[in-house]
Amino acid sequence: MDSIFAKRVQNAPRSFTRKILDVIDAKDIISFAGGLPDESLFPHELIKKEMNHSLDTMPRSIYQYSQAQGAIQLRSELAKTYTNSTEKEILITTGSQQGLDILCKAFIDEGDTIVVEAPSYLAALNLFALYNANIQEVPLTCNGIDTIQLEILFKTKKPKFFYAIPTFQNPTGWSWKKECKVEVARLAKKYNVIIVEDSPYNALKYEESIELGFEELLPKLSVTLGTFSKTLVPDFRIGWMRADEKFLKVFQNMKENTDLQSPKFFQYIVAKIMKDGNLSLHVKSLIEAYRVKRNAMAEALKKEFGKDIEYEIPTGGMFFWIKFDDKVDTMKLFDIAIEHKIAYVPGSVFYKDNKKNSYVRLNFTNATFEDIKIGIKRLNLALKEYNAKHE
Ligand SMILES: Cc1ncc(COP(=O)(O)O)c(C=O)c1O
Repeated sequence: MDSIFAKRVQNAPRSFTRKILDVIDAKDIISFAGGLPDESLFPHELIKKEMNHSLDTMPRSIYQYSQAQGAIQLRSELAKTYTNSTEKEILITTGSQQGLDILCKAFIDEGDTIVVEAPSYLAALNLFALYNANIQEVPLTCNGIDTIQLEILFKTKKPKFFYAIPTFQNPTGWSWKKECKVEVARLAKKYNVIIVEDSPYNALKYEESIELGFEELLPKLSVTLGTFSKTLVPDFRIGWMRADEKFLKVFQNMKENTDLQSPKFFQYIVAKIMKDGNLSLHVKSLIEAYRVKRNAMAEALKKEFGKDIEYEIPTGGMFFWIKFDDKVDTMKLFDIAIEHKIAYVPGSVFYKDNKKNSYVRLNFTNATFEDIKIGIKRLNLALKEYNAKHE
């Protein structure tokens, strides 16, 4: 019988991380799988204080239907965080995931080419597949992407956009070097390709560095996606898009057709938290806490695996990207790891073709120190069992 569902339903892969969430519902599994913040660090008292204050001060119009663009209070605060932007260039979205959906709606007709890093963010890859995009990958290293390959793709495939996470990437934790960004901006101009910079992790920076954004390099031809999910709380579902007004008007229209507007109530509260300088203070405390967790995971990896694995210590974000010996298929290792009560995300899911590989993504922000120690030990035991079985 023909399916009643649209073709895209058949193209819709279920996110591997969601599947893992089902598996690890079993309580005693330690999970490094999800890209989750540490719940104990959610600033509940701050939110409570600002919420009480806002309930007394906020204009009644906040409750009213309005333009899809979002609360002016929040858009102005966000515009201040950029070098070249005004509130007219900001659209508030329901998480940055909605920003990705809006991009697809605005730019992708079936079969249109887009370029992504390899590896890239799983939920974005799934979404692009849902829109039947022709996804082309450009290899990523710890210094940035292969710009020679990128130029070939720009020249021969004429992509609609290049989707990238240049800072503290998901899944690798890597950041592009400045020269790479400058070259990508040059190629974007030459071939007239939009650069989409997804930037959820930029604020979680554990070492001194200056991150040059595409908003500065390419203000007219870039779209920046942002979110409060990693710096405040994911459940507010507040993200934003920054782009030139000619794009923003179209994005706004695409959003209106989906949900008319995002709720403004929490936008107002978040704007107040930003305006009072409390978001910066909170992010500072997150950085202190996450840096120590990152160090704990680096130490545990060194202790358990020594030189048997390859990785960079991430200078920001939430993830370690670990490479085991080439002969290890981390998708197969996953089942053994679950028996040892440890979960991670196998590297293959971050590539378009899901080809087997020997990488894993480990999240270090959500686990406790105890779990980091025990979890990495369990991972090593799982690897030993895998190696014994595959000798
Ligand atoms: C690269 C990237 N983009 C977008 C998102 C979605 O975030 P949000 O909660 O704002 O929808 C995530 C979440 O993990 C992410 O890692």
